[in-house]
Amino acid sequence: MLKQTLLKAVEAGAAQLTHFFNGEFKVSNKEGINNLVTEADHAAEKAIFEVIQKEFPGHYLLSEETGEVIQDSSFKWIIDPIDGTVNFANGIPICCVSIGVEQDGQMILGAVYNPILNELFFAQRGFGATLNDKIIRVSDKTEVIKSCMVTGFPYTYLDEPNGPLEVFTKLIRNGVPVRRLGSAAIDLCWVAAGRFDGFYEHKLNAWDSAAGFLIVEEAGGRVTDFEGKPYSPYQPHIVATNGKIHDELVAVVNGGELRNL
Ligand code: IPD
Ligand code: CA
Ligand code: CA
Repeated sequence: MLKQTLLKAVEAGAAQLTHFFNGEFKVSNKEGINNLVTEADHAAEKAIFEVIQKEFPGHYLLSEETGEVIQDSSFKWIIDPIDGTVNFANGIPICCVSIGVEQDGQMILGAVYNPILNELFFAQRGFGATLNDKIIRVSDKTEVIKSCMVTGFPYTYLDEPNGPLEVFTKLIRNGVPVRRLGSAAIDLCWVAAGRFDGFYEHKLNAWDSAAGFLIVEEAGGRVTDFEGKPYSPYQPHIVATNGKIHDELVAVVNGGELRNL
């Protein structure tokens, strides 16, 4: 029932995303000059809430545009109604609905749906990860120097030691391809599918990564914070990899050098 409702909810959100994509919609600004929210984000969130609250009116919700619907429940739905809003607003087809479900503080289900590319990523703890119902696995690269990476940058520049541009520069100077798709949820799913070998980012919110991190883990990958500790979506740092390059990438985001240069 939980799984069915999750899939119904991502579909309901995605129907709104598709409806507005490349069409007319109102856009407003949040904190940060290009941190946008559109009419479609609100419409998707409303459609998602309707589905979940119809089946599970007592469950706790945490969603980007509304914030928290606090309930005394062991279940918490963590919702990004559109991840990749800047892409969405520019007609770039790398955007999705992302929903994770936590039970007693542990992520048990995750779904990320990009309706424009028709890609539905799904994972249930202990049951693996799928893309459109086909099992997916992480890649088998063993060195950062031979890897294809993806990252993202916060809307407001983060000026700190080993900040986003410093890590990016180090990888690029060493000839490592680093992509920037603009949707953390999709970045994670593409690591899970083996399209990327690793992903790191310095400042995410729980709704950006809740579903995607479970999808990476269930595809055989590893996800941690910058200290290499088990990942929590309630802190900003993430390193998600195929597992084999993980320790090396954690060292690199902390200022270390790549191996085998
Ligand atoms: C953003 C995207 C982006 C990441 C930002 C997020 P939004 O989410 O996931 O890839 O770099 O940190 O805020 O605003 O498109 O939902
Ligand atoms: Ca997001
Ligand atoms: Ca969003």
